[in-house]
Amino acid sequence: MASCAMKIFIFCFAFAVLVGLGSSRNFEELFQPSWALDHVMFEGEQLKLKLDNYSGAGFASKSKYMFGKTTIQIKLVEGDSAGTVTAFYMSSDGSNHNEFDFEFLGNTTGEPYLVQTNIYVNGVGNREQRMNLWFDPTADFHSYSILWNQRQVVFLVDETPIRVYSNKEFKGVPFPKDQPMGVYSSIWNADDWATQGGRVKTDWSHSPFISTYTGFDINACECPLASAPEENSKRCSSSLAEGRKYWWDEPVMSELSLHQSHQLKWVHANHLVYDYCTDSARFPVVPLECDHHHRF
Ligand SMILES: *[C@@H]1O[C@H](CO)[C@@H](O)[C@H](O)[C@H]1NC(C)=O
Ligand SMILES: *[C@@H]1O[C@H](CO)[C@@H](O)[C@H](O)[C@H]1NC(C)=O
Repeated sequence: MASCAMKIFIFCFAFAVLVGLGSSRNFEELFQPSWALDHVMFEGEQLKLKLDNYSGAGFASKSKYMFGKTTIQIKLVEGDSAGTVTAFYMSSDGSNHNEFDFEFLGNTTGEPYLVQTNIYVNGVGNREQRMNLWFDPTADFHSYSILWNQRQVVFLVDETPIRVYSNKEFKGVPFPKDQPMGVYSSIWNADDWATQGGRVKTDWSHSPFISTYTGFDINACECPLASAPEENSKRCSSSLAEGRKYWWDEPVMSELSLHQSHQLKWVHANHLVYDYCTDSARFPVVPLECDHHHRF
């Protein structure tokens, strides 16, 4: 009796773990390798991107999206990852493109990774923030998400918000809301700038450098590649008249909850190491979108 219950328990547990981690089936539905196909490896439920002295690698979503939430679980390059960058981002096409970036800057063995986030609107970026993490991102998978709606873009790590770009169009700050975006990830050599300002170079004797992915999820409004921009904006906006309501347009999604605001404050107080908003050497005039009252 007990052992039977135990078996059922173990079975359910194993099932839950498999479902919880997502699968490479999701990968093939949503994504495809985009360059250096011989540096992209499938291993069961996992996908690996490899960087060596010949090449990095990348993958891209098959479709473009407007609004919603994209999540990937990543286990970053272990050991000596100095000089390497693993990126997970969304981007539209063209010279006035929008882009939301997570860039994981590697480090020498035992030294902390930095997570750089950036936001491009209408082709203009220069909105870098850098922080370290409250865990070792090379020891296990962690989920990294981008939530995007008409009110805000939120970067989340294990569901904890680490950055918010709110819609401040009322102040004349541009907000990305009319270009469909693809979802991308890649690994490449960036030892001219990534680690300790470019002082530490990639040690190729430690290659290959491998980042591992699982749990691919895109819960967003898909934009057929052939449709016109206005059509996409219309299709991907909730409309009372047309009886269309997207979850990301619910009032609760228009700003962080009180709990999330507290989490964000904690992250910034304890883990933020660089913020363009407070870099007066680069920006003698504080950028419009930076909040003067509470700086973050
Ligand atoms: C890459 O590294 C391998 C092994 O260390 C070496 O044999 C090869 O010449 C290198 N190739 C290039 C393009 O540097
Ligand atoms: C690497 O480690 C050094 C020393 O702890 C730290 O100053 C730096 O911010 C870390 N991250 C990167 C990407 O350089």
